[in-house]
Amino acid sequence: MRLLTLVSLAFLAACSPAADPGAPNAQEAATAEPQVAPILDTPEARDVQSYARPLEARVTHVALDLRADFAAKRIAGTATLDVQARPDAKSIVLDSKGLELKSVTDEGGKPLRYALGKVDPELGAPLTVELNGARRIRIAYVSAQDAEALQWLTPEQTAGKKHPFLFSQGQAILNRTWVPTQDSPGIRQTWEARIVVPESLKAVMSGERLTPEGEPAEGGGRAFRFRMDKPVAPYLIALAAGDIAFQSLGPRTGVYAEPATIRAAAAELVDTEKMVAAGEKLYGPYRWGRYDMIVLPPAFPYGGMENPTLTFLTPTFLAGDRSLVGLVAHELAHSWSGNLVTNAVWPDSWLNEGVTSYFENRIMEALYGPGRAGQEAALSFADMESAFTELGASAAGTRLHNPDETTEGGSSGIVYDKGALFLRTTERIVGRERFDSWLRSYFDRHAFQPMTSARFLADLRSNLVKGDKALEERLMLDEWVYKPGLPANAVRPDPKAFAPVDQALGAFKAGGAAPAPLWARWTTAERLRFVNGLPRELPRPRLAELDRALGLSGSGNAEVLSAWLQLALANRYPPAVPAAERFLLSMGRGKFVAPVFRTLWGEGEWGRPIAERLYARARPLYHSVTTGQVDKIMKEGG
Ligand code: BES
Ligand code: ZN
Repeated sequence: MRLLTLVSLAFLAACSPAADPGAPNAQEAATAEPQVAPILDTPEARDVQSYARPLEARVTHVALDLRADFAAKRIAGTATLDVQARPDAKSIVLDSKGLELKSVTDEGGKPLRYALGKVDPELGAPLTVELNGARRIRIAYVSAQDAEALQWLTPEQTAGKKHPFLFSQGQAILNRTWVPTQDSPGIRQTWEARIVVPESLKAVMSGERLTPEGEPAEGGGRAFRFRMDKPVAPYLIALAAGDIAFQSLGPRTGVYAEPATIRAAAAELVDTEKMVAAGEKLYGPYRWGRYDMIVLPPAFPYGGMENPTLTFLTPTFLAGDRSLVGLVAHELAHSWSGNLVTNAVWPDSWLNEGVTSYFENRIMEALYGPGRAGQEAALSFADMESAFTELGASAAGTRLHNPDETTEGGSSGIVYDKGALFLRTTERIVGRERFDSWLRSYFDRHAFQPMTSARFLADLRSNLVKGDKALEERLMLDEWVYKPGLPANAVRPDPKAFAPVDQALGAFKAGGAAPAPLWARWTTAERLRFVNGLPRELPRPRLAELDRALGLSGSGNAEVLSAWLQLALANRYPPAVPAAERFLLSMGRGKFVAPVFRTLWGEGEWGRPIAERLYARARPLYHSVTTGQVDKIMKEGG
């Protein structure tokens, strides 16, 4: 134990000038994993979206003691932060947004001087605390009613309709609205929490769940305790509270959901334990203990969010036939790419999302075979091509390392799909066995550390290319990461992946009937290929024929319905309007909501009044992430 502590402190000292072996709460290293992760000190690892100056003073551990007030829609309590600081550091700078501060003290309760700086509409305000020698500080605060990370749902917005619900979404820079800490993905922190919720509710978080049933809390309600003993990026601290049931799926997997949803959720997720095993077989041990998921109410703004030990999922992936579980493979893969090795800054988010999208496809191949995986890779390639069409084939926004993009990291067709294609291309050139062994060792070498494009390429050159000049030339590494456009060596999807669908598309375009018998046998990927491959301009009778023959407006598959609504509304097809209305009021996932509003907005005098009417009703149901996207569309179309 002692030796390990020394090792981890030496590790810190070597990588960061912030070492302070005298800190009263230096974490005892319980495992061989580093308990205090290094801060990268290179220009491309500097995070302009955080006010923190971690090389002077940094947070290493966060202890939350909070109460969720559903009536006031605010979270109140304390955050106690362990600090490592250079001996000469006078203060520590934290991120905060909209927090109402009650007090800032040292561990013993002695007040510390602090100042809130100028508020930036996106970044919030720097909170500078004078340390006065303290290495543990306590902040008492209340979150704002409009804290962007949090969504407080009324009972009507849940499946059970009886209890309210609360969830948080931290990525990218939203957690500063409810946790005052250094909110930068390159500053890893361990954490623990005690959360009090009303008596009838249950709370879960993205760490070890220490009190599954909760315990009585002084002052009423139930308290739930959690612990994350591995250093994680602070955007991965996540909370959900509501009427939540649990169903085990395997020895280390399970699903939480509202009681009304738990059966459907468990049925859709039966393969999860196998997915974890497949992930480990591919790229090394799953290091987080349990892999559980929570299926949230439909307002959740994303498909999924890879919160450690507890992936958050939209209920819109519940198709009834497991056809959309690529989402689960994706969030699981983030347990390696993203949560273990983490982009140091958001302009490098392809290191999280692109590597994960590649890994996701490998899990899908392991479970369901190369046919399904090849189709999903071909859909991803088409999404990438759409991004090139939209942005311009050699626009700056088509670079993987995208220093212009701050928060989101850029277009998903680039970050996810071009990112995955870079790895797929590299795999094809060096051979799968060699590639897999490199990627597995990459996760080991950089476990619990931040990553940048430059470090990624340096690792690839040292451990895969190893000075082979011919190979270096064939890989075109710098072009993939730093240049716009698609490098000439990109591997193309198998043209046979969708051969029957492409044939049916050809026949329909030539005037043939809607292919109802084929459609009935097609997989979801094939149906998506078909709908997205239809001509963007279609006369009303042809749309009506498709809708009738294939049952598109009534599709129970959210991905298929979304693709259809975009096509139908772009052609001002009136019967799609009530279907769009139902869809927009039934869920708040940005990926589905934004394109519908963008399409309606693009249809001028026909579409805008419809968009305005629907948004007036739907907006109060959406999370800030989704209203942020749609507000922009309704202002300027974008
Ligand atoms: N980490 C992302 C979600 C995210 C991205 C949150 C950017 C905040 C900013 C998550 O892993 C993700 O990629 N979700 C996708 C699903 C996936 C199958 C492509 C989604 O939500 O659609
Ligand atoms: Zn992702």
